[in-house]
Amino acid sequence: MTELENFTAAVRLQAAQCGLTEVEIEEASGALIETEALRAMTDAGGSVLAIGEPGTGKTLAAIRWLIRPLYDLRDWYLGGDVWLPKHRKPWPFLFRPAKSLSRIAQYDEKAVEPLFSAARLVVDDLGQEYLDKSGFLVSLIDEIVSERHRRRLPTVMTANLTAEEFQQRYGKRVVDRIAGTGRLVVCGGDSLRRKSAGARTVPALVAADALIERRTELAAAAAKVAAEHAKRLDAQERAWMAERVARGPSRILEPKSPPRVTMTEAEVQARKDQIARDLEEWRQRNPQTEPTS
Ligand SMILES: Nc1ncnc2c1ncn2[C@@H]1O[C@H](COP(=O)(O)OP(=O)(O)O)[C@@H](O)[C@H]1O
Ligand SMILES: [Mg+2]
Repeated sequence: MTELENFTAAVRLQAAQCGLTEVEIEEASGALIETEALRAMTDAGGSVLAIGEPGTGKTLAAIRWLIRPLYDLRDWYLGGDVWLPKHRKPWPFLFRPAKSLSRIAQYDEKAVEPLFSAARLVVDDLGQEYLDKSGFLVSLIDEIVSERHRRRLPTVMTANLTAEEFQQRYGKRVVDRIAGTGRLVVCGGDSLRRKSAGARTVPALVAADALIERRTELAAAAAKVAAEHAKRLDAQERAWMAERVARGPSRILEPKSPPRVTMTEAEVQARKDQIARDLEEWRQRNPQTEPTS
């Protein structure tokens, strides 16, 4: 396996645990046409409610937003020739079709808690799910939005509905909450469904992050796959793809936050132990005095 295949496989394994299929992950990791939905769902954007006609790229944009942090190489390390996540736990990102929420029983806290606490949550395709007479689902959606707002956690919701329809179904409070702290985006334009038929993996996100990390070998491999993909497209798509590849694959996304150090608890403990040993050694060498800082 090449480094690229290796890394892609590792990311997929993690993404599958977020509730996504391989095909969804593959599509969302590629170079994409710039859509309203993609523009709204940036890493810096907070919560987003994306509404509009089917086929306008809402779901794909939501998935890309959800898995974007998985491609941050700073959260991975290369152990031998296998990429391993620095965190021990799976990434706490959740993808939930709205339909699956209507299967949650009222008072089932174990099912509800992850929806409140996930670092990123997508509730996809609202509007098609069954609304029970007691109004539990609507109040659950309302509670998810309020609770996540309280915890300052971003949520992306999509719906094939107009703004009026959405408000009628879920209430003004939900719309206000999201619009007040995030973005309400109405997705339009021609349906993208036909255009992307036959699309193949274009690991644009891998290339972008690899470049940032100066992993030139990985970046080159990813860019090569992108170029091969471009060759297979028809003329119009080839034009925007060429432009996109030239501009750099991550331009549709906002700049990354500054690097941060992620340490596991064990690493923190090891560091503390080392400091204690150093101190002890220092004391033995300097028996009269104590270090001042
Ligand atoms: N930005 C994009 N670039 C290229 N193809 C896209 C893009 N967004 C969506 N598509 C493709 O268009 C189709 C419909 O997208 P989807 O996200 O399911 O739309 P919606 O959720 O609005 O109904 C899918 O096959 C998807 O792969
Ligand atoms: Mg959809």
